[in-house]
Amino acid sequence: MDYYKIIGGKKLKGEVEISGAKNAALPIIVASLLADGETELHNVPNLKDILTIIKVIECLGAETEFNTEKNILKIKINKIKKAEIPYDLVKTMRASVYVMGPMLARLGFADVSLPGGCAIGERPIDIHLSGFESLGAEIGVERGYVIAKAKKLKGTRFIMRKVSVGATINIMMAAVMAEGETILENCAMEPDVVDLANFLIKMGAQIEGAGSERIVIHGVKKLKPVTHTIMPDRIEAGTYLLAGAITRGEVTITHAVPEHVSALCNALSEIGFIIKQGNDWVRVSAGKKLRGVYVKTLPYPGFPTDLQAPMMALMTTLPGISVVNETIFENRFTHVGELRRMGAHIETEGNMAIVHGGKKLSAAPVMMSDLRAGASLVLAALAAKGISEIRRIYHSDRGYEKLSEKLSMLGADIKREKGGGY
Ligand code: EPZ
Repeated sequence: MDYYKIIGGKKLKGEVEISGAKNAALPIIVASLLADGETELHNVPNLKDILTIIKVIECLGAETEFNTEKNILKIKINKIKKAEIPYDLVKTMRASVYVMGPMLARLGFADVSLPGGCAIGERPIDIHLSGFESLGAEIGVERGYVIAKAKKLKGTRFIMRKVSVGATINIMMAAVMAEGETILENCAMEPDVVDLANFLIKMGAQIEGAGSERIVIHGVKKLKPVTHTIMPDRIEAGTYLLAGAITRGEVTITHAVPEHVSALCNALSEIGFIIKQGNDWVRVSAGKKLRGVYVKTLPYPGFPTDLQAPMMALMTTLPGISVVNETIFENRFTHVGELRRMGAHIETEGNMAIVHGGKKLSAAPVMMSDLRAGASLVLAALAAKGISEIRRIYHSDRGYEKLSEKLSMLGADIKREKGGGY
C-alpha cells in the first residue's frame, strides 16, 4: 500500500488551484439520474469517492465517461432500472444513500443497503427516511437494506429534527418531481446544497430558498439533462490555507470562493495570521504575534467539522492553550492519538479537546483513520522536525485531488512511496 514520506520544516509558498468540491459533485452526479439524456459535468475532481458514486449510478443503468485529465464527466441515462445498491458500495461510501431520493422520484422504489456506523460516529440516516415518509413513501428494513416504496410522492411540510446536509440533499432530490408544494424547514445551508439546487433549477426544477433554513419546492413532471460546472472545494481550500499557516509560509489559494472559507479565515485572523483576499483567491501569511484560539464546529456558515482535525494540527504549534468543541459528530477525535505520537499535548473530554500548544512537533510514523484526520497528520508532518511516514493514505485519496503534487508545488518535501504493508 502507498504511503507518504514527508520531510517537515519547509515553509510553503506560492499559489495552489482548488479542485471541484467532492461534497457538491457527489449529489450532483446522483441527481443526473433525474433526467433521461446526456448530462455533462465540468470541474469534477478525480477522487476515489467520485469513482465509487459513478459505480453506484451505473448499477441503475447510467453510462458514464470520465475524462480525468479534463475533469469532465459525461453521464447518459436511457432508462433507469430497478436495482439494489449493494452493501459493498454503501459501506465504502455513505453518500451512496443519495440515490434514494432520485430513485423514489423516478421509480417510486428504492432498495439501498443501510450504512452502518463509521470512523466518525454512528451517523444514522433517520432524517432522510422520515423526510421520504413525509412525502408519502413507505419505509421498511429487510436483510440490512432499506426498501422505500411510493406510488406517487406528494408535496409536504417537513421540519428536520437536526440540521443535516445529507438529509436536506436527499429529500430535496425526492421532492423535485413530487406532486404539489414541499416546504423543508431547518435545512442545511452548506454551499454544496446550493450548488445542487442550482443544478436542479437548470434542469427545470422549481426550488426557492436553497442556502437558507427554508427551502420551497414546486414539483414538476419532467427534468432535462444539462451541463454544469461543480463549485470549488471549500474544505480543500481551507486545508491549503492551514498548510500555509502551520509552516508559517505564504500560500494563496486560487479558483476558490472566499466567502465559503470565512469561518476559517476569521479563526486564522484571530490567531494572528494575515489574510488577504480577492474575488476568487485568498492568501494567508504569518503575523508577528500568534495566540491560541477557541473553535466550535457548527453547520454552515459556522466553522466546518471537516476542518476541525486540520485546525487542531495548527493549534499544536500555537503558543498557549487552544480549545476545540466538536458539536457535529460524536467521534471525530481519532487524529488526537496520532498527533500525540508526534509530540502534541492534547487532552480530550467528550466532545471537547484542549490543546496545549507551543510544543515543537517531531516526525513519527502515523496512520490515517479517516479523510480529514489524514489531512491533519499531513499538516502536522509538514511542520514537524524530521521524516514522517504516513500510512493508510487511501483515506486522503477519497477527498484530496493530487495532494502530494499540489503540496510539492508549494515547496513541501512530500513523496508518495509504494509498499509498507499496512
Ligand atoms: C456531510 O455528511 C458531508 N459528507 C461530511 O463530509 C460532513 O462532515 C458533514 O456533512 C457535516 O458537514 C458529504 O457531503 C458526502 P450530516 P452528512 O447529515 O450529510 C446527524 C468529509 O470528510 N444525522 O450533516 O452525513 C449526523 O449523525 C465528510 O468530506 C442524524 O442524526 O452529515 C451528524 O451528527 C465526512 N440523522 C449530524 O446529523 C440523519 O438522518 C450532521 O450530519 C442524518 C444526520
